[in-house]
Amino acid sequence: MTDEIGAPRQATPGDVEGMVDVVAIVAPEGSLGAQHPVDREMLRERYGAGVAAEHPTGVWVVDVGGRVGGFALVFPPGPTGVLDLAMALLPEARGRGAGRALLDTALAHARANDVHKVELEAWVDNARAIALYTAAGFVVEGVRRDHYRRRDGSLRSTLLMAVHLAD
Ligand SMILES: CC(C)(COP(=O)(O)OP(=O)(O)OC[C@H]1O[C@@H](n2cnc3c(N)ncnc32)[C@H](O)[C@@H]1OP(=O)(O)O)[C@@H](O)C(=O)NCCC(=O)NCCS
Repeated sequence: MTDEIGAPRQATPGDVEGMVDVVAIVAPEGSLGAQHPVDREMLRERYGAGVAAEHPTGVWVVDVGGRVGGFALVFPPGPTGVLDLAMALLPEARGRGAGRALLDTALAHARANDVHKVELEAWVDNARAIALYTAAGFVVEGVRRDHYRRRDGSLRSTLLMAVHLAD
């Protein structure tokens, strides 16, 4: 039987370890910026800080079978007024509307905080993520060609995508 997926809920400090687990499980796919084996301590600090931060930072999780099945995080990368978005779902949580629900929750939060734009970076070959973001209104603003040197020595390219929420 397939475990039910909960609706996105605001993350608490007790969810941080589950978020780190999600990244540790997903990272070997190569779909994330984080590389296998992930630096759990660094991620714990990053997500812990995100959960503790005030608006406009926001963190949400979905539960699957009693564990964190995925999350979305938005945070201000600098004093631009823009929010950066990161998200990941366990394989068993994909294709079931949870990605869109997390994304819609993050965008609603951004709008409620008068954020004019949300941006993200995705590997150029991450078709599934790009399709999700495009369906939610994100457009490609640029390409970072062969920008990232990975641990295996390869160079990878990303799309810079963003959605304008207000003028
Ligand atoms: C990216 C992610 C959050 C998307 O969530 P999801 O629940 O899997 O999304 P969906 O299954 O609804 O797919 C989104 C869209 O892509 C389409 N899609 C699914 N698999 C696809 C594939 N292999 N290639 C192209 N499009 C695909 C779906 O049909 C859907 O479009 P639709 O709504 O028009 O039908 C999730 O797959 C994930 O966590 N992936 C691993 C980590 C990751 O890539 N994070 C994002 C980093 S930028």
